[in-house]
Amino acid sequence: MCLGFSLYFGTPLPPQREFRYLAPINPMQTIDLLVRGAAELATPLGLEARGGARMGELEVLPGGCVAADGGKILAVGSEAELTRRFHARSVLDAQGGTIVPGFVDAHTHPIFAGTREQEFELRTQGRSYVEIALAGGGILSSVRGVRESSDEELLARLLVRLERFLELGTTTVEAKTGYGLSVKDELRCLRILRQAAGLQPVEIVPTFLGAHEYPAEYRERKADYVELLVQEMLPEVARQGIAEYCDIFTESHVFNLEDSRRILQRARELGLRLRLHADQLSLLGGAQLAAELGADSADHLEHIDRAGMDALAAAGVVPVLCPLVPIYLRQEREAPGRAMVDAGLAPALSTDFNPGSCYLQSMPEVLSFAALRYRMSAAEALCGATLNAAASLGRADRLGSLEAGKDADLIVLDQPNHRHLVYELGRNPVRAVVKRGRVVVRRAPAGFNGV
Ligand code: NIG
Ligand code: FE
Repeated sequence: MCLGFSLYFGTPLPPQREFRYLAPINPMQTIDLLVRGAAELATPLGLEARGGARMGELEVLPGGCVAADGGKILAVGSEAELTRRFHARSVLDAQGGTIVPGFVDAHTHPIFAGTREQEFELRTQGRSYVEIALAGGGILSSVRGVRESSDEELLARLLVRLERFLELGTTTVEAKTGYGLSVKDELRCLRILRQAAGLQPVEIVPTFLGAHEYPAEYRERKADYVELLVQEMLPEVARQGIAEYCDIFTESHVFNLEDSRRILQRARELGLRLRLHADQLSLLGGAQLAAELGADSADHLEHIDRAGMDALAAAGVVPVLCPLVPIYLRQEREAPGRAMVDAGLAPALSTDFNPGSCYLQSMPEVLSFAALRYRMSAAEALCGATLNAAASLGRADRLGSLEAGKDADLIVLDQPNHRHLVYELGRNPVRAVVKRGRVVVRRAPAGFNGV
């Protein structure tokens, strides 16, 4: 969709006279920020996830401009109109680039210590993710890293990662624990997430993922770990009000459907909202469980079938897709992203940033791969990475689109239109980032590629 602007080219005004002692008849409103000078502004619209054909209906305003005040968007419109209405204390010049909403990364595991490049190499040699996990690598090797690290070390690493997210245009991240797997270490990670939220601009949505794996000390008595989750960890997490969501890795080698149901039901009783790692490595019915329990999202879904898709659609669960993960794991099967949109679902997109199955923080890269692998249009991919992702986090009323009343979270791309976002690979196109009306990243112009 394209809005035309009404531009008035009247006869030139007579030379200005000075009315030094008169108050202006129509005073301009003074605002915090005006973002102007863009070739294009592109945004999905609305206060809820957009599914089916609506996912590809993007508002595209050539020369679009944004006025922000008090951290909120006051108006989106043409530069001529907004500069007539507002006097801005500060101006961000988009220099012929494109303005889009800040990315919302709906699925990340950013609190870990140590990396797992040797596992990446093992997979290129033919070993599978599950084989590596069963041999004591995988998530458990990151658990060792977290347990051996001090709070200061974990916080310092997390802050570096959050800065990278921001530079890549991510203004909100969902952040899971899941590398502590003890009462003490899971709560420690949640506290560090809360601390980090107050130290830098990226908004963090904290998720408790104590059911990510069975820790080594419970491997021979898995039922006891489920009891620990249900009777100690979850009540303490809820008591401290330190997590918004509870997630789980529902998969045949970790938490089966019955244990997943029990853990998630308990979390829900305690007031946590739900999201699930579902049908990632095999078809287990995780999607149906997400629907049954009223989860906000079901994530991964590489092995989902038609019945699972129907269940998600009927229950209004947002599928959160991670297009780089099967590539990174060298898995044949990927989520049926195109079929989901065609079935009316409203998928969100995410990096799944973590040290094992996807060491990637770039949402621009995720958008390109959503286009290449799921055959999403640039408009659909942008909607998945902004509004639908915000909806999966219960924040579509405040985040995910550029509209009056929402948070002024936006990015300026050094690309001449939103289609370049999926078209160009491997370079960070983000020139500036605005979070809650404040310019928090300003990168030197790189010049336009091919323009
Ligand atoms: O989303 N599937 C489970 N969790 C992560 C992987 C975590 C890890 O390997 O450290 C995922 O792929
Ligand atoms: Fe994950």
